[in-house]
Amino acid sequence: MQTNRQNERCRVAVLISGSGSNLQAIIDAVNSSVAANSSAATDPGYQICAVISNRPDVKGLERAAKADIDRVTLDHKLYPTREAFDEVLANTLDGYQPDLIVLAGFMRILSDGFVKQFKGKLINIHPSLLPKYPGLNTHQRALDAGDSHAGCTVHFVSEELDGGPAIIQAQTNITHCNNAAEIAQQVQVLEHKIYPIAIDWFANDRLKIDNNHSFLDNTQLPASGYVVS
Ligand code: GRF
Repeated sequence: MQTNRQNERCRVAVLISGSGSNLQAIIDAVNSSVAANSSAATDPGYQICAVISNRPDVKGLERAAKADIDRVTLDHKLYPTREAFDEVLANTLDGYQPDLIVLAGFMRILSDGFVKQFKGKLINIHPSLLPKYPGLNTHQRALDAGDSHAGCTVHFVSEELDGGPAIIQAQTNITHCNNAAEIAQQVQVLEHKIYPIAIDWFANDRLKIDNNHSFLDNTQLPASGYVVS
């Protein structure tokens, strides 16, 4: 598979809005130098070049500081429109020349222009078994529907909210869960497992998007993405 990468190691920018537990999972994967499912035993093949938050003083920024990663706060409230914020965000990202942009609990809808600009190198993690429950309150919706399983999906970002092609998905039984918080706790464990795997695949040139489908090792993935148990 061809790569357009200019640097040897894939440069990953992580966008956050809050706690950053997914960011921490990615930092840990880099630090352990053995990203899950990686063929490279000693080098994950990527580095986190920047962490950008649209909210000041969030825990995720502390996590980045502790890991000695460049941090930028772009408070969206200081910009008059979504497009104005996205333009500054895009310019900031351009300064870091990322090969991959990872949305990790980034609670902002991105404008179509932004998504187009970074298409193919923009991924998100969503706390549901997509295509079920795009949008908010996913765990409550799973509970209300009486679903036996909940989960999470990493997907390429397209102009449609939570609608881009899936990359990897994990699910867990929730029949014993009494509320959305219990489900969230269970699902987050899976999030922390699958996000580093997806990044590892991308960084090692195993993953790409073509014609709105995800491909792993040149094989088209199913609509759910690669399913891990
Ligand atoms: C995660 O549950 C993710 O699926 C959702 O936002 C949450 C972010 O959590 N998009 P964290 O900031 O990574 O702890």
